[in-house]
Amino acid sequence: MPKTRNVGVFVGSLRKESFTRKVANAVASVAPSNLNFEFIDIAPVSHYNQDLESTPPADWTAFRQKVSAVDAVLFATPEYNRSVPGVLKNAIDVASRPYGKSAWNGKPGAVISVSPGAISAFGANHHLRQMLVFLNIPAMQQPEAYIGGADKLFDANGALTNESTREFLGKFAEAFAEWIEVILAPKG
Ligand SMILES: Cc1cc2nc3c(=O)[nH]c(=O)nc-3n(C[C@H](O)[C@H](O)[C@H](O)COP(=O)(O)O)c2cc1C
Repeated sequence: MPKTRNVGVFVGSLRKESFTRKVANAVASVAPSNLNFEFIDIAPVSHYNQDLESTPPADWTAFRQKVSAVDAVLFATPEYNRSVPGVLKNAIDVASRPYGKSAWNGKPGAVISVSPGAISAFGANHHLRQMLVFLNIPAMQQPEAYIGGADKLFDANGALTNESTREFLGKFAEAFAEWIEVILAPKG
């Protein structure tokens, strides 16, 4: 029986009807049962300002603690102007500091990009991957997850209606579960 692994999920959209959140919910619903998904809200994370590090805002401390507590991280991002939304970048920056105490360090990760458009937020996906290199988040390479046409995948209740996408997300989640073990199992 595989060990339970807690996965922090970071959704890069604050929009109530976010397609990205719906995709992240769908991944959680089809993932292997040893993965326990915790959606960590980035909305309360205030703007990063290095001057505040001596007495960090309570929302930074709470967010950093939540990131530290999970075993692995899953980023689901939309694309804003061919990159990640500022709110997601800000949250990533906040948990990366203070210097030398990044909460992200060493946690296995994966990226899903989501867009109604055909390019499927490729730009955001790869800008995010660039950050993960510096943050020492070993990111799953394959399968990559570019979810396009996202406005046509869900019913009025937000349930995924596209079978091939469900099948793909299931394979993605299985691969992520294996990837987490590749990175964490040697450490226990
Ligand atoms: C400021 C802004 C910039 C955007 N830039 C892009 C873009 O570069 N590429 C893209 O595919 N969609 C872009 N869009 C459209 C988003 O893909 C669309 O709003 C999507 O629904 C956002 O994801 P969500 O549904 O999870 O909120 C942009 C939207 C906004 C508000």
